[in-house]
Amino acid sequence: MHRPMGETVIAWEEVFTVGTDHAVITWETPDAPGETTVYIGPSRAQLEKRVLAFQETYHWAEVTGLRPDTRYWYQVETNGVRGPLGSFRTLPAPGGRHLFSLALFSDCHISAGIGSGDPNERYFGKLLTHARELLLHGLEDARRRGVDLAFMPGDITEAALPEQYKEVRDEVLPAFGNLPCHICPGNHDKYERRSPGGQGVGARGFWEYLGKSRNLYKSVRYHRHQFLLLDTAVRDIDHGWINAQQIDWLTQTLNHNGQHPVFLLLHHPVTGPDLWHGLLNPGRFRKAVRAFPNIQAVLCGHMHRCLVAYGAPEETPYIELPATVQFPCGYAIVRVYENGFTYNAYKVSRPDLVDKSRNRIIFGAVGQAIYTRYAAGGVGDRNLARTREGLIHRPVLFEVFVRLRRSEARELCARAQPSPGAAVAPAEQGDRVRVVLGRHASWVDATDLRRTLEYQFGLRASVSQDGGYNLPPRFRKLWGGTG
Ligand SMILES: [Fe+2]
Ligand SMILES: [Fe+2]
Repeated sequence: MHRPMGETVIAWEEVFTVGTDHAVITWETPDAPGETTVYIGPSRAQLEKRVLAFQETYHWAEVTGLRPDTRYWYQVETNGVRGPLGSFRTLPAPGGRHLFSLALFSDCHISAGIGSGDPNERYFGKLLTHARELLLHGLEDARRRGVDLAFMPGDITEAALPEQYKEVRDEVLPAFGNLPCHICPGNHDKYERRSPGGQGVGARGFWEYLGKSRNLYKSVRYHRHQFLLLDTAVRDIDHGWINAQQIDWLTQTLNHNGQHPVFLLLHHPVTGPDLWHGLLNPGRFRKAVRAFPNIQAVLCGHMHRCLVAYGAPEETPYIELPATVQFPCGYAIVRVYENGFTYNAYKVSRPDLVDKSRNRIIFGAVGQAIYTRYAAGGVGDRNLARTREGLIHRPVLFEVFVRLRRSEARELCARAQPSPGAAVAPAEQGDRVRVVLGRHASWVDATDLRRTLEYQFGLRASVSQDGGYNLPPRFRKLWGGTG
């Protein structure tokens, strides 16, 4: 049963996106091209083989035709080498008809070849030379998935230089064609003195190049839903601030809106005052929105990571969007239904660029292990559903893993074939590799696997939770998440 592994190693395997009817699993087989195969089914005994591509080293397996709120078992394979046998649960359907979908592209940092030399560019893999390419690929992907309108909540340009606003005007916005695209500024879009050579035009870029009005906050109505875009950026400052004029406008607009569902979009996170990167006056914002339970979600960018928190009005998801320009090089789709919505983050379908970004993260493997966990979040930070009663469902996975020296890891990967299978990723310690032996939607299955491994291989594996917290509201309050 222990088949030799050969040269193929399943690396960076992850369930990135989980929807109501589809899932995207990605992995790499460095220097060993081969087929992209997934075994998937409703139980470990009923796995159906799907071969999705050949001769790839970056593997992108999108499995479709799944049922909502259903547990699926899966295992990936390339050149006869298998990744960990795992399971995940699809999102529940929000209820009612699907009405429309929106695409979100945050932190695109269109650069026209000029960087601002910030730490993200120097140390954390911000791919300025590919900024436009990544965004346009994401746009193509989102169109294929079927979207009706798009939003870009800030950091559209890298440093608000005239040539960058020109690139947005001439090369980026025309690509949206007849897909309506609404934008609001981020801190980088308001750089003046802080841009290279102090040549930034700041907010003027919005009205001089992009034909926007002086007020950069606005309301968009679509199918009896309201989208409120706020302007939280301040000239030459990275923190956010929401001014009194906008708070008044926000309150009035929400009052006039009645009971229609509302989505709020802004560049800076408003999770709490402890986040120095975020809004400096989050209390003003939360106080203004507290009385409006029809707010469905608050969506923001800026942090270049996937994270879901909760805030006012009670139990509202505060969603941080992935950056297109930097690992995980993602965009998001919100599918709106009569009784709720689903939110999914996707990697742009350029896994070579996703990998390039990850490889530019400092401190080698250790940096990659730490930063990628921050930027990609857990599966419940990338995917969620809000259903009829306003309940939030976030998938969760329990990962069974060991940290080993490289040579031991290779040996274990070989011994673990074909069951339970294994994948490798860098560990937080320099001389170690993280070997993942299973990832399950159920804690019981994960701990069962841990016990089996101890018996089978004499291994002491750990179990860590990746993703959401589907706790009842009263428990979430104890966790301090209702802001
Ligand atoms: Fe950004
Ligand atoms: Fe930002």
